[in-house]
Amino acid sequence: MPEDGYLKGVVLCGGLGKRLEPLTRITNKHLLPVYNRPMVFYPIHTLVEAGIKDIMIVTGGNNAGDFLRLIGNGSEFGLRHINYTYQRGEGGIAEALGLTEHFVDRSKVVVILGDNLIGGSIKKYVQRFKKQENGARVLIKEVSDPHRFGVAEINEGRIISIAEKPKKPKSNYVITGIYMYDHKVFDIVRTLKPSRRGELEITDVNNAYLKNNQLYYDILDCWWTDCGMPETLYRATALMRKKLLREDKE
Ligand code: G1P
Repeated sequence: MPEDGYLKGVVLCGGLGKRLEPLTRITNKHLLPVYNRPMVFYPIHTLVEAGIKDIMIVTGGNNAGDFLRLIGNGSEFGLRHINYTYQRGEGGIAEALGLTEHFVDRSKVVVILGDNLIGGSIKKYVQRFKKQENGARVLIKEVSDPHRFGVAEINEGRIISIAEKPKKPKSNYVITGIYMYDHKVFDIVRTLKPSRRGELEITDVNNAYLKNNQLYYDILDCWWTDCGMPETLYRATALMRKKLLREDKE
């Protein structure tokens, strides 16, 4: 039995990827190529590189079986075993996280969206979260198009509110799709009501921690992008290509 405070990892690969039609008509967004690998390889690698070995993938849509064929037991990532579960429909990120409750159990959990790619490592942030007694930790990043994301309002070094895709963003700092929670997150998910887009919003989870003064953050020190639209998928490919070619030379 893992002790309290042990870290598990979750990669969220649900959703139908409608913004990438027709690319996603016959496959899942997270299986599409980003440079020389399927998209989902990168977030798995991000968790493994941060020292997280106990991982669950939440898939969805019509091609969930392909994740098993592609990733198998995770040995390619140095894992002995990998866990899978399935999200029906498009109930949102928080609903998908709720499906991992039995897997996470009393541990803490690092969650990454399957289409969130980064140019560096989250190791140091995960270490800080490990030392954190309780609560949540999010990674934020300054962007030029904050209205597409969860936007953090920051005052004197503290997040004071988070708004999901606001028309008038209160800052350029957005909440990336990398979240760290204590096991109380599942009690919070149970209290959520669907938003206007009919989903359980991860922003509501983060705001619940905020209300309890238990939301901490770090500013991510490398590039970050999602891959949910043709433009960002293209950008992710260009950034990843540059990163991997540079690493090859080193
Ligand atoms: C989701 C979250 C949003 C976050 C973003 C990061 O957006 O709702 O708060 O900033 O991921 O990629 P969605 O992918 O649902 O548009």
